[in-house]
Amino acid sequence: MIGDWLDIGPVDQVSPGNARTLPVVGAEEIAVFRTLANEFFALINKCPHKAGPLSQGIIHGNVVTCPLHGWNISLRTGEALGEDKGCVPTIPLRVDAGRIYLLRAAVVAGFNAA
Ligand code: FES
Repeated sequence: MIGDWLDIGPVDQVSPGNARTLPVVGAEEIAVFRTLANEFFALINKCPHKAGPLSQGIIHGNVVTCPLHGWNISLRTGEALGEDKGCVPTIPLRVDAGRIYLLRAAVVAGFNAA
């Protein structure tokens, strides 16, 4: 079962209220977010509006505000909130024994399709 999940390191690599990026060879960069409530989420690091780097946005609650034009994106669903329309793919993530795991199939999907 553990082989289905990719260990990307300790939770401490992402401080509360911040994000880190994870480059993926042959696929889109992933952003791993940690909220102030210590929840973790992973999204493709591209705003559904004009591909702004969501990892550089401001995190509030379970939402990130894109640094380019201020769209609010749900970290849970990847959907734009309010009147804005669009959705960015999310990557299933789990935390176990202080380490962050991403669903391997979701991370390499783009690579396998190439
Ligand atoms: S690119 Fe994110 S709001 Fe425009």
